[in-house]
Amino acid sequence: MQAIILVGGEGLRLRPLTCNIPKPMVPVVNKPFLEHMFDNLKKHNINEIILAICYLPDHIKRHFGDGGDFGITLTYAVEKSPLGTGGAVKNAEGLLDDTFVVFNGDIFTDLDLTSMIAYHKEKKAKATIALTPVEDPTAYGVVELNPQSKVKCFIEKPSWERVTTNLINAGTYVLEPEVLDLIPSDTYCMLERGLFPDMVEQGVPFYGYPSNAYWIDIGNPADYLKLHHDILMGKAMARFPGKSMADDIWTESGCNIHPAAKIIGPLVIGRDCTIEKGVRISGPCVIGDKCIVRHGATIDEAILWQNVKLGKDTTIRNSVIGNNSVIGDSTWITDSSIVSDDSRIGSGNKLEHGIRIWPGSIIEDNAISF
Ligand code: GDD
Ligand code: MG
Repeated sequence: MQAIILVGGEGLRLRPLTCNIPKPMVPVVNKPFLEHMFDNLKKHNINEIILAICYLPDHIKRHFGDGGDFGITLTYAVEKSPLGTGGAVKNAEGLLDDTFVVFNGDIFTDLDLTSMIAYHKEKKAKATIALTPVEDPTAYGVVELNPQSKVKCFIEKPSWERVTTNLINAGTYVLEPEVLDLIPSDTYCMLERGLFPDMVEQGVPFYGYPSNAYWIDIGNPADYLKLHHDILMGKAMARFPGKSMADDIWTESGCNIHPAAKIIGPLVIGRDCTIEKGVRISGPCVIGDKCIVRHGATIDEAILWQNVKLGKDTTIRNSVIGNNSVIGDSTWITDSSIVSDDSRIGSGNKLEHGIRIWPGSIIEDNAISF
């Protein structure tokens, strides 16, 4: 079966992590997010994948090519300007030949696709949408079902007054090719505001498939951090690079970890990292390739991307540090703060309260200490 993954969004809510790379390439436990999606698709024998792409397409194409290195066949349906989730699916029409599956490209889930597809066939549906329960449905598409599980109502990002259920669109759809006739060509159109409400109105066989599978949209920094936490704590299942070197500690080759560093897992360390004497690491943490953590630094529930340098006695807690950033001595970065790529943060700074530092920023020594 063929799958389309929608990867054309700009990932604005995940900025500044998505300033230099598109959301699907953001690393999750040291590999691009999309690779985790491919893992779940392959588990269900879905190997033919179309990427509906728009923002920074070269970045994705360069990494994945024709998919051969990843055990899949990849093709690309590129939009010149964003066509919306519906327009993007329509844009891939020429590449489709039968029943197909569509995925939002920012959802991590272990949804049982095999059962969902069987359910779709059993119901003789034209469209089937996976549903998941959430606490705040107003940030998503709310889906109300009738007793036969047919979609009765689809409201995208409703106000609280219009919320009638906590079941929301989980961003996975099984579709028959006929539904493509309901989407206009070369026109901006969203499935959630166009096709889905139209199908309900026209009485098309459109079913919901509720599931309690693990599910998270990595669209904002808090959920990006939460996904790491859940993977490392074993709540979400994922494959990631590295070999187990001790209980709850995985490393890749070329690492130099001082025996007097105090490490409490879960921790994943990439290739060629140096962890000096007196460093304290308290998981869940992920450290990317070629990072250097100097003497006395503390890393606590944090994520370092690649080639990050942490100065002496610096503390990083519950925060993300982007590629090639250099953090000076005795600096604090805490409370879901984000320092994006290529930044230089001087010594003696205190970055707190979810502060977001844009790529290439330079902060002098002792400049921020509120
Ligand atoms: N190709 C293409 N072109 N892809 C797009 C475009 C576009 O113009 N616009 C958005 N996408 C992709 C995004 O890259 C993302 O992978 C997916 O479509 C969904 O877009 P988001 O911007 O992440 O939407 P959302 O999270 O606010 O809401 C959607 O997902 C929720 C589940 O997380 C909706 O589908 C909701 O109904 C749903 O509940
Ligand atoms: Mg999203």
